[in-house]
Amino acid sequence: EQINKGNYEHYMQKEIHEQPESLRTTMRGRLIRGGSCKAKTVLLGGLKDHLKTIRRSRRIVFIGCGTSYNAALAARPILEELSGVPVTMEVASDLLDRQGPIYREDTAVFVSQSGETADTLHALQYAQENGALCVGITNTVGSAISRNTHCGVHINAGCEIGVASTKAYTSQIVVMAMLALAIGGDTISNQARREAIIDGLVDLPNKVREVLKLDEEMKDLAKLLIAEQSLLVFGRGYNYATALEGALKVKEVALMHSEGILAGEMKHGPLALVDENLSIVVIATHDTCFSKQQSVIQQLHARKGRLIVICSKGKASMVCPSGSCRAIEVPQVEDCLQPVVNIVPLQLLAYHLTVLRGYNVDQPRNLAKSVTTQ
Ligand code: G6P
Repeated sequence: EQINKGNYEHYMQKEIHEQPESLRTTMRGRLIRGGSCKAKTVLLGGLKDHLKTIRRSRRIVFIGCGTSYNAALAARPILEELSGVPVTMEVASDLLDRQGPIYREDTAVFVSQSGETADTLHALQYAQENGALCVGITNTVGSAISRNTHCGVHINAGCEIGVASTKAYTSQIVVMAMLALAIGGDTISNQARREAIIDGLVDLPNKVREVLKLDEEMKDLAKLLIAEQSLLVFGRGYNYATALEGALKVKEVALMHSEGILAGEMKHGPLALVDENLSIVVIATHDTCFSKQQSVIQQLHARKGRLIVICSKGKASMVCPSGSCRAIEVPQVEDCLQPVVNIVPLQLLAYHLTVLRGYNVDQPRNLAKSVTTQ
C-alpha cells in the first residue's frame, strides 16, 4: 500500500502530501503529555540507556550528506539551546577528507534516510575507531547505520521512493527536536519552553496540513519562474537550513541553478548578483531574526531583486509594505519547529517547476536515492 502512488502522479508529490501522516507516525508513542500534574516529556526508547553519556559529552557532532545534513542543521539551534552541549556539523565526505578530529568524549550522530550512504557509513567507521559514542537516526530498520551504531532512533516516516527526500526531511527534524528535549534537562527554568515545544509538536501535523493548501499558489508561482536561470534562497537562524534544503530541492529535481544563502552573509558577496533579473526567495517568518530579515528584504528590494517572501500568516504587510514582493503566508509555529512548516512551500515549488519544465520528478538525471559508493 505504501509503495503505490495512490491518486498522485508522482512519488515525490505523494510524499510531500503525506507529511501530516508521516509526522504523526514519527511522533507516535514518543510524546508523553500526561495529566494536569504530570510533566510533558519525550520517550525515545532506543536512547534511554545512553542519555546520561550523551548529556556528559564534550560535544555532539552531526554527520550526514545532502538532505539529511540539512535536517541536522535545522535542529542544531534547539539542540544547543536545550542541551547546553556544543553542537558541530560535518558533511560526511568532508570529515573523511580532512580526517577531522573526533574524540572519545564526543557523541557522533549519523543522520541518513536510507542508512546506507557510503560516505556516512565510512564516517561512522571512522568515529567508532576514534571511540565516540555513535547514534544513528535513520528511516530504515536493519540498515547498515542502524546496525552499526551504539544506539539510535528510527524516524518511521514510511518508505520514501522519490529520489528527492521530502517527508524524511521533516521527520528527521522532528526526531532531532525530540532528541533535544530528551537530552535537555527538565529544569524549572526551561519547563515552559519544553512544554511549548511538545504542544507545538503535537499540533505540527495540522499545521503542515494547512500549509499544503498552498499547492495551487506554488504552482502559479512555478509558472512565473519556469524560465529562470537561477533562484536564490535567503534564510538565517532556524531557517538557514530551510534555505539550503529549498535550493537543493530546486536544483536536484527542477534542474535549475539554485543556492541557499545565509542572509547574514548577503553583504559579503551575494548582493553583487542582485538586479531586476534575479528572483530571490527570502524566508522571513516571525522569530528573533525577523527584524534582520526585514532589513535584508529592504536591501534586496533597493537593488530591484524580484522577491518572494515566505512570512508568517497575517504578516505580509510587514515584509512587503507596498506590495513590492510576492508574499507566501504560512502558519506560525514554535520557532524551532518552523523549518518543518517553511520547507513545504519550497518542496511544492520544486515539484511544480519540475513538472512544468518537463523533467523526471522521481528520478532526476545523474542522481540516485541511495549513494552506496564513495
Ligand atoms: C542522495 C539522495 C539525497 C539524500 C542523500 C543522503 O544524494 O539523492 O536525497 O539526501 O543521498 O542520503 P541518506 O539516505 O544518507 O539520507
